[in-house]
Amino acid sequence: MTTSPLSQTPRSTLVRYLIEERRRFPEASGELNGLLLDVSVACKAIARIAAFGELDDSGPATMPPPSINVQGEEQKRLDVVTNELFVRMNEWNGHLAGMASEEMEAPQQIPRAYPRGKYLLLFDPLDGSSNIDCNLTIGSIFSVLRAPQSVIDSGRDVRDEDFLQPGAAQVAAGYALYGPTTMFVLTVGNGVAGFTLNPNLGEFVLTHADVKVPVDTQEFAINSSNARFWEAPVTRYVQECLAGRAGPRGKDFNMRWIASMVADAHRILMRGGVFLYPRDTKDPAKHGRLRLLYEANPIAFLMEQAGARASTGRQPLLGVVPTALHQRIGVVFGSRNEVERIERYHHEPAAHDSADPLFAERGLFRS
Ligand code: AHG
Ligand code: MN
Ligand code: MN
Repeated sequence: MTTSPLSQTPRSTLVRYLIEERRRFPEASGELNGLLLDVSVACKAIARIAAFGELDDSGPATMPPPSINVQGEEQKRLDVVTNELFVRMNEWNGHLAGMASEEMEAPQQIPRAYPRGKYLLLFDPLDGSSNIDCNLTIGSIFSVLRAPQSVIDSGRDVRDEDFLQPGAAQVAAGYALYGPTTMFVLTVGNGVAGFTLNPNLGEFVLTHADVKVPVDTQEFAINSSNARFWEAPVTRYVQECLAGRAGPRGKDFNMRWIASMVADAHRILMRGGVFLYPRDTKDPAKHGRLRLLYEANPIAFLMEQAGARASTGRQPLLGVVPTALHQRIGVVFGSRNEVERIERYHHEPAAHDSADPLFAERGLFRS
């Protein structure tokens, strides 16, 4: 369906939403809004690149050979291009003290040619990058923290430890989704709002005001090829779901796995469900698959703001005190009653709960 350029104008846009949110804080400077709008422009640019796919002239012919990123994972061309876009779109505006990304081992400094600001931007510029080659949904995830006061006062270069703040300290978080439509989903700590890119206007238009996740669900998401590495509480939970109506849950469950966490999270925000990428024993050096600071925390903030719950399985994700910039962690989020059930299974004093001190998590709200 083609809409006229004017047909959407009575609806709120991202700009209007941000201005109206700021009015709740008369003392606010508007810097956060400026930052979020630049992030949204980076996402629009990425949406265009993704939409051209193999047609992109700077594509396969000029593609550098696959390299390995700081995560030890293959870095796709678009991982590099989208990272560069995020950096260039946000380094100049004077709102940031520094940035950190999945694709960069060390924090990105704001060049001395530009003023330095009071926020830190953390991002996964392209989530689900294994889906690019198959033209499946991908996204970008971001998190905004306040820089430590000493950084703001001195204007010094940022260090890893400046970013090691619990998710509860996030000022804003969100993601862009590059699917059949491009969406921008955001929280500034007052609920969750979803915007759809109107290609006629080039604007994100408010289409999903005050997103809420149902507390119950019959849909779960997990990569079951890892089943042999799961811990007992996860195995129990999945087996009970699979047992369906005849099992202890007394109802049938459906299963979904997109392999872009951002897309799985979006489905859950739209219609409920539970997502697990739990801590497992696959690689003892890694305490999970997903990264705490720029994947788990922003999604956890969105989930909690939408009335859902986000957990490591053992404690609220937003309470985890990070120990490393690229730290990985077990992740469970979605419909509140399911996540609480999974946490209960982890806390039951069964032989299946590992007491390995390697896995101890430092937390703010440890129960
Ligand atoms: P990224 O593309 O940023 O490296 O993240 C991919 C992540 C996440 O989005 C997804 O849920 C998970 O990896 C998929 O993992 P499996 O390949 O193990 O299913
Ligand atoms: Mn990712
Ligand atoms: Mn990524």
